[in-house]
Amino acid sequence: MNVLIVGGGGREHAIAWALSKSDKVDHLYCAPGNGGIAAIAQCVPIAATDVKAMVDWAVDNHMDFVVVAPDDPLALGMVDELDKAGIPAFGPNAAAAIIEASKSFSKTLMEKYHIPTARHKTFTDMDQALAYVAQQGAPIVVKADGLALGKGVVVAQTVDEAQKAVRAMMGDHKFGDAGAKVVIEECMTGPEVTVLAFCDGEHILPMPSSQDHKRAYDGNQGPNTGGMGAISPSPNYTPEIAKRCMEEIFLPTVAALKAEGRPFHGVIYFGLMLTPDGPKVVEYNARFGDPECQAVLSLLDSDLMDLFLACRNGTLDQVDVRWKEGAACCLVLASGGYPGSYAKGYPITGLEEASQTATVFHAGTKLGKDGAVLTNGGRVLGVTATGPDLEAAIQGAYVSAKHIHFIDMHYRTDIGRV
Ligand code: AMP
Ligand code: GLY
Repeated sequence: MNVLIVGGGGREHAIAWALSKSDKVDHLYCAPGNGGIAAIAQCVPIAATDVKAMVDWAVDNHMDFVVVAPDDPLALGMVDELDKAGIPAFGPNAAAAIIEASKSFSKTLMEKYHIPTARHKTFTDMDQALAYVAQQGAPIVVKADGLALGKGVVVAQTVDEAQKAVRAMMGDHKFGDAGAKVVIEECMTGPEVTVLAFCDGEHILPMPSSQDHKRAYDGNQGPNTGGMGAISPSPNYTPEIAKRCMEEIFLPTVAALKAEGRPFHGVIYFGLMLTPDGPKVVEYNARFGDPECQAVLSLLDSDLMDLFLACRNGTLDQVDVRWKEGAACCLVLASGGYPGSYAKGYPITGLEEASQTATVFHAGTKLGKDGAVLTNGGRVLGVTATGPDLEAAIQGAYVSAKHIHFIDMHYRTDIGRV
């Protein structure tokens, strides 16, 4: 098959790496791809959000299957357009991708179907939002309704901080239209766990659990990022909790989306908090998480293409998926300054040495004129190691990363330990 992957980050590199091992995949393409993906797939210079150009290219170049990995093209209906063009794709259509694209939609869905989540209220009027914050008190959570690159959430410790966030989103339009509507939530406590699950509209197949580290600095300090590292599985996700999540969250979510006429085909990302009152949903995403994907797919011992096809065809109940024993750790090496402003174009050294003991997924990289690998984004690399247990996987990632260098490289030293 000719397979096109849409996207160009670490997650897409991990998907390309897993698909490159499939007997069913003859030719692999990635748009736009990055400096590392270029080694295993042909990169095509089309932006992930350019739906028309992407679909036209897929048709013209006879793609048999397209994997739409990032949130934006899913929300923009790329899967719908590919469908219309007769090309099957992995990922939800726009009607189902709304579980990520609109937080207020998801909150209403969870309320209607009694899926446990934080109490919330949605506002389109800034003064009413400010008054509600004052009345509820802190801590309290303020969220932009739409897509905001994972940065539209403020967990405020004081009323003043929460009101500042409301003003930034609704008054100053910090996230553009994404903040025209704001969701204000009760602040939950407890360990966070991510569960990615394959879905075929009807059936659901959870992958091993994982844990992201969203804050920029050690000790979960500093601003929220796209994710600075991930481990899989999460030690907090016991078999008892997994059973509760299946019964109280996963199955009801899939059934709810089907009942709403929005059957979900693809990966649902369940962002969970294990609160003293039981597991609750923090957020849904309509795709693999990044960097969770890099850690979780490192443990996959089956053909990923079979799983993608089953999600598409409604046959997930018939696939036999195997996962490796042990654990994985993905350590993100970021550009100094990320998630704020940072420089690009620095040469990266030590990739080959690191690759002896880990899989180095590229995120923000590009190839220079002479073939040198250069930094080209905030999150640059995801050094991913597996091992018989979590400790070995964490050690493996850190030891391997020691070989890599670029100017102003920044990473957390406590991935998997907090
Ligand atoms: P989200 O983009 O919705 O996942 O939010 C980003 C991060 O904010 C989450 O990973 C949590 O750490 C935190 N967060 C979001 N909602 C809540 C909540 N209701 N209570 C406590 N923390 C939250
Ligand atoms: N790692 C968080 C996300 O992909 O949304």
